[in-house]
Amino acid sequence: MKKPSTSPVSRLEAHRADASLIEEILAGLTATPKRLHPKFLYDAHGSVLFDRICELPEYYLTRTETKILQHYAPDFMRSLGANPAIIELGSGSSLKTRILLDALTGPATYVPVEISRSHLNMAAEDLRQRYPHLQVLPVCADFTHPFSLPQSIDSQRKLVFFPGSTLGNFYREEAVQLLRLMGRLAGEDGQVLVGADLRKDPKIIEAAYNDSAGITAAFNLNVLTRLNNDFDADFDVQTFEHRAPWVAEDSRIEMHLVSKCAQSVRIGEQTIELSANESIWTESCHKYDNSQFAELSAAAGLTVEEIWTDPQELFSVQRLKNKQG
Ligand code: TRP
Repeated sequence: MKKPSTSPVSRLEAHRADASLIEEILAGLTATPKRLHPKFLYDAHGSVLFDRICELPEYYLTRTETKILQHYAPDFMRSLGANPAIIELGSGSSLKTRILLDALTGPATYVPVEISRSHLNMAAEDLRQRYPHLQVLPVCADFTHPFSLPQSIDSQRKLVFFPGSTLGNFYREEAVQLLRLMGRLAGEDGQVLVGADLRKDPKIIEAAYNDSAGITAAFNLNVLTRLNNDFDADFDVQTFEHRAPWVAEDSRIEMHLVSKCAQSVRIGEQTIELSANESIWTESCHKYDNSQFAELSAAAGLTVEEIWTDPQELFSVQRLKNKQG
């Protein structure tokens, strides 16, 4: 059978996209300190490892947020009134959304915004089957860049949903911008629900990102394998170590890959030098106390209306609205 051929134009475009990613990777690895954008963590294998992280005994976040939503969603969803539109940024497989959808008592619209077309289409199809009264209007977009919502939801009451403490993976300015966007999408009488991991005993937090089965380490180290596979690099993964310390002054876990020795690594035509103990910073996971989160929200023009939490106050779901006036 003849292989389907890619048109010369799309091949050229793919090549250009790759070239700009390689530039981005090289810029990060030649900066001080060295860094890699977290998006590179999520290739197919990285996504499988991430799903396993969410089920780890030490990783309290997913489990706790799920319980909080199960407890508070039924009353809250009823309070939204008839035919709301639920907008989710970075919806992935929409598993947590199902807790909200299960609490619906009538028709509603769901607008998942997701960069991965395959995740988006699979989740949309699944939800249409599970919830026959739900109108699903998927939007394939990177939510950190401008995108538009379907006009047909203009007159519906809106709920913007951003679970998973994903906001915590953004630095302050980006986090404020994202919250601002959520407020805009929600509109005047809309609601915003954001999952935020809370500050607590650092031992509990550090254990969550340094699990005993080594899955988080494998997830972090996998980014080097990915650079080898997709970007023609020659990292010797064995010579790097996962570290995820709690950095109290910045209220965050920082994920690093530390070189165990002085070495040079090739990426395409370029060579990167690393000294012994030098780190490549891959991601940060910010934790908030309620006053920090309220301050962040206020900077984005939002007010905290209600905080949902678990009995141990490990995690929170913050319900926000646009500031009046
Ligand atoms: N947002 C979640 C968190 O901060 C999930 C997550 C993102 C994560 N990147 C991660 C978990 C890296 C472990 C390692 O925990």
